[in-house]
Amino acid sequence: MKNYYILFILLCFLSCSKNGQSEKKAINESDEKYEVVINELLSKMTLEEKIGQTNLRGTSSRAKTLSEELKQQVREGKVGALLNVMKTEFVDELQKIAVEESPNKIPLIFARDVIHGFKTMFPIPLGMAASWDEDVARTSSRVAAIESSSVGIRWTFAPMLDIARDSRWGRIAESPGEDPYLASILGKAYVEGFQGDSLNNSTSIAACAKHYIGYGAAIGGRDYNTTLIPEPLLRNLYLPPFEAALNTGAATVMTSFNEINGIPATGNEFLLKDVLRDELSFDGFVVSDWDSVVEMITHGYARDEKHAGELAANAGLDMEMTSKAYENNLKALIKEGKVSEKQLDVFVKNILRVKLRLGLFKEPYRDVANEAKFYEKTHLEKAKEAAIKSTVMLKNEGVLPLAKRSKIALIGPMADAPLDQMGTWTFDGEKEQTITPLNAFEAADVNYTYIAGLSHSRDLSKKEFKKAIAVARASDVVVFVAGEEAILSGEAHSRASIDLPGAQENLIKELAKTGKSIVLVIMAGRPITITNVIDDVDAVLMSWHPGTMGGEALQEIIFGLEEPQGRLPVSWPKTAGQLPYFYNHKNTGRPANKKDYVAMYDIPIGAWQSSLGNDSHYLDVGYTPHFPFGYGLGYTNFKYDKIEVSKDTIRFNEDITIKATVTNTGTRTGKEVVQFYIQDVVGSITRPVRELKGFEHVNLKAGETQEVSFTISSKILEFTNNKLVKAAEEGDFNVWIGPHSASGLKSAFYLKD
Ligand code: BGC
Repeated sequence: MKNYYILFILLCFLSCSKNGQSEKKAINESDEKYEVVINELLSKMTLEEKIGQTNLRGTSSRAKTLSEELKQQVREGKVGALLNVMKTEFVDELQKIAVEESPNKIPLIFARDVIHGFKTMFPIPLGMAASWDEDVARTSSRVAAIESSSVGIRWTFAPMLDIARDSRWGRIAESPGEDPYLASILGKAYVEGFQGDSLNNSTSIAACAKHYIGYGAAIGGRDYNTTLIPEPLLRNLYLPPFEAALNTGAATVMTSFNEINGIPATGNEFLLKDVLRDELSFDGFVVSDWDSVVEMITHGYARDEKHAGELAANAGLDMEMTSKAYENNLKALIKEGKVSEKQLDVFVKNILRVKLRLGLFKEPYRDVANEAKFYEKTHLEKAKEAAIKSTVMLKNEGVLPLAKRSKIALIGPMADAPLDQMGTWTFDGEKEQTITPLNAFEAADVNYTYIAGLSHSRDLSKKEFKKAIAVARASDVVVFVAGEEAILSGEAHSRASIDLPGAQENLIKELAKTGKSIVLVIMAGRPITITNVIDDVDAVLMSWHPGTMGGEALQEIIFGLEEPQGRLPVSWPKTAGQLPYFYNHKNTGRPANKKDYVAMYDIPIGAWQSSLGNDSHYLDVGYTPHFPFGYGLGYTNFKYDKIEVSKDTIRFNEDITIKATVTNTGTRTGKEVVQFYIQDVVGSITRPVRELKGFEHVNLKAGETQEVSFTISSKILEFTNNKLVKAAEEGDFNVWIGPHSASGLKSAFYLKD
């Protein structure tokens, strides 16, 4: 019975969730009633209790017992929310104390990093971004909400919406990639999935749009580093996914660790008040990141804890995660008139509003009747589908799909790495439930011999090489599952080189000497530079860290039961030295081009001092990425034809359409992500060489043709200039419809005032 119920919720959600407008309206109507409750509560609360609501306390995720001190704090109303309370009994006990013994009986919110699944792990967010599929994002967060709410979690620290242009940054694994349009679509869908039709539903969990803002712009991809973001760039690149999430009703926002142009995000009044509250009308609450309030001292922005509390409070930060600048100092700061009690009241109202929206006053406890079974069949199916849709095929010299009875040498450190395959942020995932490629080959009765060759991704030992080579020799084809362990990406796990670690490249090169075809599968938290081995292998599949069902997804792709359907959500570099790299860069006064490019080894010895080629490139690696944003192959080919814009001049108040035909020229049915890009040729500030403005998934039988069209209105041509005016500007535009950001059929139109 339970199974049907969960399926029903899932299906109902999937069909109702598109109706975002009516959801928002429903929330607003109850909000009027909530304000009455909030004001009444506020009038009864002491200063200590108000400060208590701003307090997000952590327990260690490994805590075996509940401390008496914490219980007492909850009893006195000095805690507003808790994170990482891993045991359900503790959740129940603490909530009981809050609603039965605390002065105003205000329920707690229990939070956790439910990022890409709770028990059933979906691919890492960068992987899900590669699906270019809002349904994948929405379904993954719905499943995560159903599973996690069953243990009392009603608030997740997701979605992470940081645009990332540098694959060295470990947290690129959690990001939606480098494009604001794609990130906005995914951000909206994640929120819809987490929050369901109504936050009030016991299987809904409050989303947290994080990290606000610019965290992905960390210099050199070094985590937590300084960012320099001019306001037009902030608005054109980093803000759109947050806007999309907030317009969808994301209940909370988390500030980022970084400073932006000298001011830490956690103490940034402009960002927290002017932009978030005044412009975007956000009425949920803002939480700091872990200790980011007191880290303002280390940043050199606050003198001490008290000053940090003052800066954060006056900037408009509602809730403090883990550090105690508010708990220890807000009372004194209010007494001294440095922070107004009115400001504190605003924080408390914002927090109580979210608690009311979550229905916690009515039903503070987890809904036992609603208890979801983890790893429900439908959850696993959706996780597998997500992994298939996320897998990006980067190369295929006719080797894939493999014939069913091929004799396979399954080699590589990630071929049977159940923990690592889940990726970063998987505290609740269980490796025992994970299906690795080895497990999937076994279950599908594949004709294979397995040898890891390397015990883990950083293994430098060559002692198993001989055996691995022998296995390869005795087989028809090698499937080498390479990559990075989960611990090599994620928070504070940036890398300067993003080559395959350990002796993986060496082993691939040795295996290549056998003359056998090699299918290289990569499981990693970021693009991995494969320039050194690309010519040694016949096919490359990027699986990202694919989650619980990754092995089955891979097995089905390899044998052609399914097609790899992913497209890159980030440019794939040839070498880390090219980073940051992004497709939507500017032209410069001297854009790189084929004609003028001079490669390093083509420069004559003793050449006369001159500006070689005079354009913006690297002598040693050129100017293009290894694979462009949007790239990905399938098992068939597509031809684009007949691009047509309905009018070559468009007025500000009208819409035109651009269309092209797409034909499946291969021999099997296949899926394509048809991408639509524009370029605003001349602007009051220079504009990117291309910007993604639309995409559509098509599924075509062999020989079938479909027309795909996109609507162009002046709205989608708007951008913020350096006078901070957001508008479309009269002038010429180029447009492309094609398979990725470095290709496509081109046309043009003129926008006229
Ligand atoms: C991370 C956040 C996370 C928080 C709570 C921080 O270190 O930056 O993304 O939500 O910890 O675990």
